[in-house]
Amino acid sequence: MTTRPFWLSGAAATGDSEITLTNPYDGHHVGEVSVPSADQIEEAVAAADSVAATAAALPAHTRAEALLHVSRGLAARAEEIARTITAESGKPIKWARAEVDRAVSVFRLAAEEVRHDNGVLQRLDTDPSGDGRMGMVRRVPKGPVLGISPFNFPINLVAHKVAPAIAVGAPILLKPAPATPMSALILGELLAETDLPPGMFSVLPMPNERAAPLLTDPRLPVVSFTGGQFGWEIQRLAPHKHVTLELGGNAAAVVLADADLERAARRVAVFANNAAGQVCIGVQRVVVDDAVYDAFTDRLVTEVEALPTGDPSAPETEVGPMINEDAAVRVLDWVEEAVAAGAKLLTGGTREGSTVAPTVLAEVPGDAKVLREEVFGPVAVLQRVSGAEEAFAAVNDSAYGLQAGVFTRDIQVAFRAHRELEVGGVVIGDVPTYRADQMPYGGIKKSGVGKEGVRSAMTDLSYERVMVLTGIQL
Ligand code: SIN
Repeated sequence: MTTRPFWLSGAAATGDSEITLTNPYDGHHVGEVSVPSADQIEEAVAAADSVAATAAALPAHTRAEALLHVSRGLAARAEEIARTITAESGKPIKWARAEVDRAVSVFRLAAEEVRHDNGVLQRLDTDPSGDGRMGMVRRVPKGPVLGISPFNFPINLVAHKVAPAIAVGAPILLKPAPATPMSALILGELLAETDLPPGMFSVLPMPNERAAPLLTDPRLPVVSFTGGQFGWEIQRLAPHKHVTLELGGNAAAVVLADADLERAARRVAVFANNAAGQVCIGVQRVVVDDAVYDAFTDRLVTEVEALPTGDPSAPETEVGPMINEDAAVRVLDWVEEAVAAGAKLLTGGTREGSTVAPTVLAEVPGDAKVLREEVFGPVAVLQRVSGAEEAFAAVNDSAYGLQAGVFTRDIQVAFRAHRELEVGGVVIGDVPTYRADQMPYGGIKKSGVGKEGVRSAMTDLSYERVMVLTGIQL
């Protein structure tokens, strides 16, 4: 197998070293990707900087057609990309296929946004001082974007960095996760087939240390980062940059007394464990009304134990390995720590290599890491409450605030949840693990700052510039 090149300023290139990729489930050799040298990284930054004005002036049809080309290309190569995701990340193939479908939509949605973006006319003659004046407000890119994406959605979280940047006319330098760069490199192939100018995109797989100078480089005034709490360090290092951070959380699903328990148990079981729990909005805390706690818990444990777990390339597998064995060991440590402090292990709590058995804990002490921190593993923690008020207080008793799900059939309770829950998104009648790619997506508190979701990200990567026309007869 040959080493995969990276994309430097729109062209394939090889560098001074390689990253070797192995499958997290069985350790099989997946391939090598080339890593750019420091000089090549500098070349990519300089190219992004020098093409910025051209990129900002690209006509809507050029940007939209490029985005549509990528969308169609992803659809045409969907199975290849899904298998690549499964090989490099261990994500079960059924979830990898769903991820590729979403990336197809992200690029299509971005193309649609470009064509519908007309700017705004604003009348200014609302006071005598504005007589004969009119404002025209258009959005312009803030400048070249440094996109840093995580391992857990190797194509779709890359899509959420790249598509909005192209849509607003901003060059993007993408650093995919070192563990899962292959699918981003396929995306590079599709981008290279478009009419975008050289310098508009680079896809540069590299170890995190090599990317450090980019964080403070003034030629990349925007950083869009999805990952762990390290994100706050970027904001600290680069206070003058525009930094968007999507940093995960310990999302809660609330099950109230009027919930459809069977559906709630099935959905919580699947979405506490899909992608081995390595989803920022995966269910971690399960806040259950006392009136249905026992009945729900029995159903949940039954559903969790029935989840097909193991080989991610098998079509029926729901729960695959974690990204590596260290991650699995860490999750088990946290589970064991909780149990030693008095938590009850209802199922799971074992590990085979990098695969952690789907785990349910109850009666967890309030200060346990599995409750307080982001587990990012296949672990659900039950919490018993009485009524909606206590349930919502439990959800808000967290340092994070990304999304929450509330199983209720009461519309008043739904509105109350939306009013009171301190999160970026509330899902009624389902788990927090729901994301349509056009939705605003992003959290508060330690979960981050700024929003993704195609339109929201375009707003985030651009700013309003007003032109005031004078001497107009309105
Ligand atoms: C994430 O884990 O950050 C993203 C979740 C999603 O896009 O579904």
